[in-house]
Amino acid sequence: MSAKPKNEPVWPLFALQLTFNDTVLRPVRESDLDELARILPDDVEQDPSSNFLLGLDVASNRRRLLFQNYWRNWSTWSVESWTLDFCVIHQGRLVGIQALEAEHFVELRTVDSGSWLAPEYRGIGLGTSMRIAILAFAFDHLGAQTAVTSARFDNAASLGVSRRIGYQDNGVSMSRSPSGPCQLHHMRLTRDQWQESSLGDSVVVAGLSGCALYFGLE
Ligand SMILES: CC(C)(COP(=O)(O)OP(=O)(O)OC[C@H]1O[C@@H](n2cnc3c(N)ncnc32)[C@H](O)[C@@H]1OP(=O)(O)O)[C@@H](O)C(=O)NCCC(=O)NCCS
Repeated sequence: MSAKPKNEPVWPLFALQLTFNDTVLRPVRESDLDELARILPDDVEQDPSSNFLLGLDVASNRRRLLFQNYWRNWSTWSVESWTLDFCVIHQGRLVGIQALEAEHFVELRTVDSGSWLAPEYRGIGLGTSMRIAILAFAFDHLGAQTAVTSARFDNAASLGVSRRIGYQDNGVSMSRSPSGPCQLHHMRLTRDQWQESSLGDSVVVAGLSGCALYFGLE
């Protein structure tokens, strides 16, 4: 195998960009973390296995975990297991995060997602737009066959986004949460359902060059 020219980016994933209407998604960079921590809302579900430092209050721990999550996702990236966190930029402002993730994507062709928005940007269709953007990337550019997602039963906004896009109910399960056991509602969208909806037709994906092998697709 010949060496790559030195002027090619070492980490091509940073060049990815998804555009849908007036919303742009691009991978989070370290320089975004201070602003993301500043706008991080209190109601973003925390992984119950997160370790909390005793000397920090809850909000400070959540902001610290946002930083550590960023470093962990890039540093543990592999074809078998990856999480791609996108900054959501709406009309030029950083307003939240939309994540796309997969385990054994080459074999299973299944993606999962998670997201949050600063409260003042909710309820205006942005959650739906940013999910559509990553689904277009996953189905139309990575060749996903299925997208799954899950949310607490009482998370009407998250479930609302999934229903609006056409995900179907896919069962329930119990999960641990910082406030105790809770019921999770699972939903699923197939490639055929996605293509039939035409929702992704005007999503523009740029910067894919050099990224395919990071997803095991070359
Ligand atoms: C989940 C989240 C990203 C959704 O984004 P959003 O921009 O508020 O959602 P949208 O405006 O695109 O709304 C999508 C649908 O849900 C419905 N919806 C939104 N908020 C709702 C609410 N609080 N109650 C009931 N329905 C709601 C909308 O009416 C819309 O459905 P419709 O098109 O059929 O009318 C956002 O609410 C958020 O950041 N929540 C906190 C973090 C979180 O829970 N993340 C998900 C973890 S699984």
